[in-house]
Amino acid sequence: MSTPSPIETIHVDLGDRSYTVHVGAGVISMLGAEAKALPKRGSKCAIITDSNVAPLYSSSAETALRDAGFSPITITVPAGEASKSMEVVTDVSRQMIRAGLDRSAFIIALGGGVVGDLAGFVASIYFRGIPFIQVPTTIVSQVDSSVGGKTGVNAPEGKNLIGAFHQPATVLADTETLTTLPQREYAEGYGEVIKHAAIRDGAMLDHLPSPTEIDPIALTPLIARNVAIKARVVEEDERETAGVRALLNFGHTIGHGIEAAGGYGRFLHGEAISLGLHAALALSIDHAGLSASDAQALASQLDHFGLPATLPPDISTASILDALKTDKKFAAGAIRFVLLRTLGDAYVSDAITLDHIETAIEALRA
Ligand code: NAD
Ligand code: GLY
Repeated sequence: MSTPSPIETIHVDLGDRSYTVHVGAGVISMLGAEAKALPKRGSKCAIITDSNVAPLYSSSAETALRDAGFSPITITVPAGEASKSMEVVTDVSRQMIRAGLDRSAFIIALGGGVVGDLAGFVASIYFRGIPFIQVPTTIVSQVDSSVGGKTGVNAPEGKNLIGAFHQPATVLADTETLTTLPQREYAEGYGEVIKHAAIRDGAMLDHLPSPTEIDPIALTPLIARNVAIKARVVEEDERETAGVRALLNFGHTIGHGIEAAGGYGRFLHGEAISLGLHAALALSIDHAGLSASDAQALASQLDHFGLPATLPPDISTASILDALKTDKKFAAGAIRFVLLRTLGDAYVSDAITLDHIETAIEALRA
């Protein structure tokens, strides 16, 4: 008899919004039981997924739900960041209304961070809010976006500007699904993993896997370790008002500016974040006393996963600065920039000016 794959569970303690994250190979099969555990739900539900993930995993999700007595519909949006839009929110919501889903329905977000952010946002506003289950299928979504309840879409003016906090009812992070990720999409996820190491867990840098071999069982403890980092931060500061959750934005201020300036789709999220991390490391050396060896330890791991360190010449610094000025992290015009003192010790600084940021962006061209 084969040994069952280990499943790790992480509890996210948020009072009446608490939930459990299950990490492991095959946990998608728990979907029916988890759906049954949702309080006061009818039989109708919507699986929201994308055009790459649907052919791979929607039938497993549908079967698990049907076997548990539910009647799922599957709504497939085009893969890619462009689906994080109000137009797609309207389209998905109207499909659900036409299929007769009411306030007793629930949603399953099956896919990467794009699907999770979109489906979670639909769940937050549909009939003034219904529950949703996250079934994340990328590294980014398993270690970061499926946990913490930030949902939303992009506006033409900037990334994630329209959204809501809406915690999932449960998260099923099936590491088996990672085996079908294309190499580029697999590697980009390590941008967020290396960010977690930078802000909370420098020792994790010694436990990162091969950039090419995807082993769902060996990856389970690493994904769980990252979920636990995210969970503890979210527990301390669910609404990002206490200056703790903001630490998760390390590398994201400039990273989001680059993502937007490149036009969504040019860089994958984690690739833009890699550039943002390189810039934030340089600023941390200059303004927070970060040692060159700590910065190098992080930078060399970004390189190990083939993540970019150099900005393409056709993306102008002005276009990045323009995009960055509409970023939510520029609270009321002030720049709240996350810097690193040492590995695992990050803080929010108000000492970074637009000139400093411009210099750091220019340095990415070297
Ligand atoms: P993504 O959802 O676009 O997925 C990347 C690509 O992989 C897509 O083409 C997708 O179709 C494909 N894919 C997904 N799972 C697959 C699988 N198992 N096998 C094969 N292909 C698969 O991107 P992402 O990197 O997962 O997420 C990025 C998004 O997440 C961004 O919009 C970012 O803003 C958001 N994000 C949100 C938070 C948050 O806290 N809410 C945190 C980090 C990132
Ligand atoms: N990914 C940043 C956050 O969840 O706060």
